[in-house]
Order: sequence, then structure tokens, then C-alpha cells
Amino acid sequence: MRQSINLAAVSDAHLPKYLDLFKSAVSAFDFSDVDLLILAGDMVFKGKIEEYGEVLSIIKSQYNGPIYAVFGNEEYQELEEEIRRKYPEILWLNDSYEQIEVKGARIGLVGSRGVLDKPTSWQAKHIPNITAVYAERLIRIRELLIKAKRENNYVILITHYAVICDTLKGEKPQIWRYLGSARLKTIIKKIRPTLVIHGHAHNSSVFSTRIESTYVYNVALPATKRVTRIEVKKIDLSLFF
Ligand SMILES: [Fe+2]
Repeated sequence: MRQSINLAAVSDAHLPKYLDLFKSAVSAFDFSDVDLLILAGDMVFKGKIEEYGEVLSIIKSQYNGPIYAVFGNEEYQELEEEIRRKYPEILWLNDSYEQIEVKGARIGLVGSRGVLDKPTSWQAKHIPNITAVYAERLIRIRELLIKAKRENNYVILITHYAVICDTLKGEKPQIWRYLGSARLKTIIKKIRPTLVIHGHAHNSSVFSTRIESTYVYNVALPATKRVTRIEVKKIDLSLFF
């Protein structure tokens, strides 16, 4: 039987900044057959973590299924524990991997804030070891993807920062390395997860592409102006393995 795993994904609502856009995007979206909602970071503006209450109440008016999320650069690292404590109904992935089962298929979810090939000038100034942090994170993501690939029918990589590929088109090419990582693209090419979902690229004009057999989506709300629907066709299983 042809059956798909249905995902909804969004990021960069930056509440309260894009509140109206987020509300209208959620109400326009048909959540009736969605198996999993993915929040790819920066759902709140500059550390305003209490806005997650509003994020959740808007979502819950339409959807009551599982929510997986990664942190964005505006969900500051020092706030991670507080966010987890205050919003335990969101399942946070932070350089971590979880296995879930949907419609009889095992899905490996690997989640991370992601990697910049070039730290921003703020990061370079304020986080002395940021280059090493990104290098170590790349190694960690690679390891998690390998493990997830071994143990699942499908693997979904979720990062806030982008992968440097066509989903950055629309952003100025000279800033791409401050928005994402080409090194991560190389890892994706080798390991070939089923899907990659990222955010952060507010000005992108290409919302999906492929890296080899891997589908890549930019789900940043200011770019897409909508919640992104992603279907993983179960019939395609043999194409991936
Ligand atoms: Fe961001």
C-alpha cells in the first residue's frame, strides 16, 4: 500500500517579530494527516524564550502530535536548559539522535543547531573557541548520522544553520559561509540521509533541492511564508537502501 510519512516543518518565526505571519501560516496549513512537526530553530526573537508559550498555543490550536525541535542562534546556548524545563512537551534534539516509529517505519532523527563554515564576527569575538566547536560538532553530526543510518529505514537531519547548497540561492553568495556549511554538505553526500531540514536562510528563494539522493529543505518562515509540508513516500524505501 502506498503510504507516506507526513511532516510539517517551520523555523525562524522569531516571535513576536513574525507573529501574524506565523499565525496565518499555521491556520492555512492542513495538519489533519501530519505525523510529526519539526521546528528548525529561531522560533523566538533574541532570547525571548517565554514566546514559546505563544508558539505552542498557536500550534496546538491545529495540531496535537509530537513536536521535535532544534535550537537556533537566537535560542541562546545559555538558555537551553531553561527552555527544556519550561517546554518539556517539545522534544529537543541538540547534537543528539532519537529513534521513533511512524506507521511501522523506523525513523532516525538527528538534530543540531548546525555549523557555520565561517563564524560570524560576533561569534568570533565573543566565543573564543567557536571554530573548534563547529569542527567538533561536524564530527558529532557525522557519527550520529552513521549510527542513525545503520539503525533506521529513514534518517532525517535537522539543523538550524543551513547546508551550503541551492537552498541558499537568494542570499548573497559572499555570506553563505556565515549562514551554513559546505563541510556538512560533504558529509551528507557520503552518508545520504533521507532528508535534511534547515532554517536560518530568511532570504532564500529556493526552498528545496537534492544533494545526491538526499532531499534538502529550507523551512525558514520569512522565506517560505508558510509551514512546509514534506512527504516521505514509504514506497521509496528501496531507493534509499
Ligand atoms: Fe537563525
